[in-house]
Amino acid sequence: MASRYPAAWLDELRSRSDIVQIVSGYVALNKKGRNYWGLCPFHGEKTASFSVDGEHQLYYCFGCKAGGDVIHFMMDIERLSFPEAVEQLADRAHMTIPEMEKDEDYERRRTQRERLLNANREAARFYHETLFTPAGEASLAYLRRRGLSDSVIRKFGLGASPDSWSAMSDRLMEKGWKLDELVLAGLTVRKKNDDGKERYFDMFRNRAMFPIINTHGNVIAFGGRTLEKREPKYLNTSDTPVFNKRQGVYAANLLRQQRHLERVILVEGYMDVVSLTQFGVEGVCATLGTALTNEQARLLHRFAPQVYLGYDGDSAGQHAILRGLDILEQEGVPARVLDFPDGLDPDEFIRRDGIEGFRKLPAISPATYRLRRLKEQYDLSTQDGKLAYARAASGIIAAVDPVEREIHLKDLSLATGFTRETLLEQMNLTAARQSTGKTPARQPSRIRSAAAETGTSEDLKAQELLLSLFASGQIPKEMIDEKDFEDDELKSLYRELLAGASPASLPDLAPDEATRSRYTRILLSPAAGDTDQMITMANDCLNRIRRTKLEKRFEEISGMLDTAPPDTVPALLKEAQEISDKLKKLK
Ligand code: CTP
Ligand code: MN
Repeated sequence: MASRYPAAWLDELRSRSDIVQIVSGYVALNKKGRNYWGLCPFHGEKTASFSVDGEHQLYYCFGCKAGGDVIHFMMDIERLSFPEAVEQLADRAHMTIPEMEKDEDYERRRTQRERLLNANREAARFYHETLFTPAGEASLAYLRRRGLSDSVIRKFGLGASPDSWSAMSDRLMEKGWKLDELVLAGLTVRKKNDDGKERYFDMFRNRAMFPIINTHGNVIAFGGRTLEKREPKYLNTSDTPVFNKRQGVYAANLLRQQRHLERVILVEGYMDVVSLTQFGVEGVCATLGTALTNEQARLLHRFAPQVYLGYDGDSAGQHAILRGLDILEQEGVPARVLDFPDGLDPDEFIRRDGIEGFRKLPAISPATYRLRRLKEQYDLSTQDGKLAYARAASGIIAAVDPVEREIHLKDLSLATGFTRETLLEQMNLTAARQSTGKTPARQPSRIRSAAAETGTSEDLKAQELLLSLFASGQIPKEMIDEKDFEDDELKSLYRELLAGASPASLPDLAPDEATRSRYTRILLSPAAGDTDQMITMANDCLNRIRRTKLEKRFEEISGMLDTAPPDTVPALLKEAQEISDKLKKLK
């Protein structure tokens, strides 16, 4: 029965299950400053970036960005569902599970979600069983022809959709699912005929089936590969209430089981994942028929400290790598590239050169890869070509650390004939031009899109710090106004806190993992010491926020003055004067 625990009871549970004590059962913690630190249990690391905040009762890893309250910690570390984690903690704290509050809307959504996930699981079971019957003969023969062993087929739960209009839908409806649910899950398609009659058919027919399974082990979608030369080669489930192709990765369930990975390898195809895994490569996954997204980059970073891009060696793959590197850079994820030779994809390569060949493949740095691709665009047999290449390359080289820079300078000097000193000079010139903004430059930044909407990232940082100070409960309520938070997420957190919610209860309100992580990071208790210090910091934040807002409005007004209708000018001037006075006071 899906219901909700009363919020007050959950808060009681949190405060009786001291997070420092609970986490200590799994991670050796050392007190440093106000917080406790240890090696993150959710990703492999050698220096402690995992912190536990006893004051606000939150944990947060600055490496992989895992974070939340004590309940979420139990869910993650023991792989429990929410009610299971609650039960374990309640047991430990000698608290009895309360009468559940009924929340009709929540219940409906949760029941629907569960039914869709179960439908997907049942469909996956059906496809997998079919693979070993006559109706799956063609798919099985296909997968075997691709070199897959029975054991890897089982490991990935691969299957066959039969060459029939509705075998799967009929089976699931026999078992009690409604047509509406199957349509919602993306398993079944409903269509009106010309005669106005409705009919339905299986979304996947006569294809080899790849179930897409999330970190919790739920089947959330499918990819189906045609056995013949039919379009599309891969048919994928569209987004559904339980599936968002921009957020997950293929084989997330296996990543989750492989603890302490030193890197994950991101490839393009489902078949590449299965094939590399069969050859014994660990930590392989793929995006779900789209280019790498920022959400996925953050997700991957939770599994390992580094991401290797192992896309196809053809030109489409090469472009995707350059874009992928930009995304990983934006998210601050250290990256490397596996540059497959001869236009091969990972599957073809490992079949040709074996696991030894694969292990010998160098994992090259982003700059090395970018330079390699850049170089192909110039004719280095001409002086003009050399010149243009040297100029373009210096932009890339300027961005790397001095040690790596030395290597590239040597190579570039060899390729173009310019001396190291000349190239260095060119680099300084390029760097200077980039910083004065005359040429558009690649800007490695971790600023979220929210930052762009609400002003500078400094401004956003001030809002975040202000919220964290407010969450500590030591700032007078009257100091802060809701309008001080321009970021919608911050505003809603502020409202919750104002209404009396505890910081530890807030990460649970996040709609997705990335937001949960952000909420947790913001809600960690501030580094300041006593109340006076906190109030001073809050004042600094408020000054900055209010000043920025006034300055923005001032600029707006000066922009308007040129074209404003004459009768509105006096009012605008008056407002500008007021702003200017206020600004003087703030400074
Ligand atoms: N893809 C897709 N829709 C298509 C073609 C491709 O969603 N019509 C996605 C799939 O996720 C596929 C990936 O892009 O796994 C890579 O495509 P491709 O390189 O064409 O496939 P391979 O993995 O090489 O597949 P195979 O080896 O089976 O030909
Ligand atoms: Mn392939």
